[in-house]
Amino acid sequence: MQGFICPVCRGALVAEGRSLFCQNRHCYDISKRGYVNLLMSQSSSDSRHGDSREMVAARSDFLDLGLYEPLCRAITDEVLGAAKDGMYILDVGCGECYYTAKIKAALEKFSPIVCGIDISKDALAAGARRDRGINLAVASAYDIPVSDGCADVIINLFAPHKESEFSRILKNGGTLIRVFPERRHLWELKCAVYSSPRENEIGSTDIEGFVTVDKKELNYQIELKSNKDIKSLFMMTPYSYKTSADDERKLDGIDYMKTSVDFAVITYKKSK
Ligand SMILES: C[S@@+](CC[C@H](N)C(=O)[O-])C[C@H]1O[C@@H](n2cnc3c(N)ncnc32)[C@H](O)[C@@H]1O
Ligand SMILES: [Zn+2]
Repeated sequence: MQGFICPVCRGALVAEGRSLFCQNRHCYDISKRGYVNLLMSQSSSDSRHGDSREMVAARSDFLDLGLYEPLCRAITDEVLGAAKDGMYILDVGCGECYYTAKIKAALEKFSPIVCGIDISKDALAAGARRDRGINLAVASAYDIPVSDGCADVIINLFAPHKESEFSRILKNGGTLIRVFPERRHLWELKCAVYSSPRENEIGSTDIEGFVTVDKKELNYQIELKSNKDIKSLFMMTPYSYKTSADDERKLDGIDYMKTSVDFAVITYKKSK
């Protein structure tokens, strides 16, 4: 386990056996489930949005269908464009590491240090099951236990973030990759649940101190061939906690659905 700093004194953490220590001997045990807990305090907004065990399982079930593979390839291509030997890559809000693990596999010849942080222990346990070689810490995206200017690449996919943390952590000229749901993302799924669905609003994607170097739009249809697959997709979206039980029950009798996916993959460089 490497790549993190002590959340108390901000010194580098070094592994000794099954624990991490800083120079002041603050100690953090590496859980048998494959992550280290570096979260100092959990604010109410953090705990509300950390994915539950059920959401994590739904996300894994859905992603393992391979329907988001084109998105994963688009992200991986962007990371490969910034690849170099020994690079440090951080996935902010990595979830159960579907993308993190595939990106790590694609980067193998560069011997990267791949780290992920998430507020959900269940997500990280599932991430460690995908690949024990990913360095995983329980932490908040708003206060990331990683040293200043250490990262070559940050990815942040459908997860909370704080822009000032991106600029603190990235090297000058480092790469940030983010994915945004576009207007018609999961439109038919929304139509099945809501009587008056609304298209996603698209705000500015600019980030101060960063230059947008690439924007790829991916828009295609996915086919869900069972009620379980439809429910897994629904469960891993923010709709699962925003929808009434009555609306959610509308999915009960549906065994087949085609729905649009509509993403933008945006690549930024931190200005020097
Ligand atoms: C929609 S999921 C995306 C997961 C992953 N990036 C993916 O695309 O598969 C959002 C993730 O953000 C995590 N999360 C929520 N609030 C967080 C916070 N304050 N800090 C870090 N992670 C957070 C959740 O636990 C969840 O794993
Ligand atoms: Zn310390």
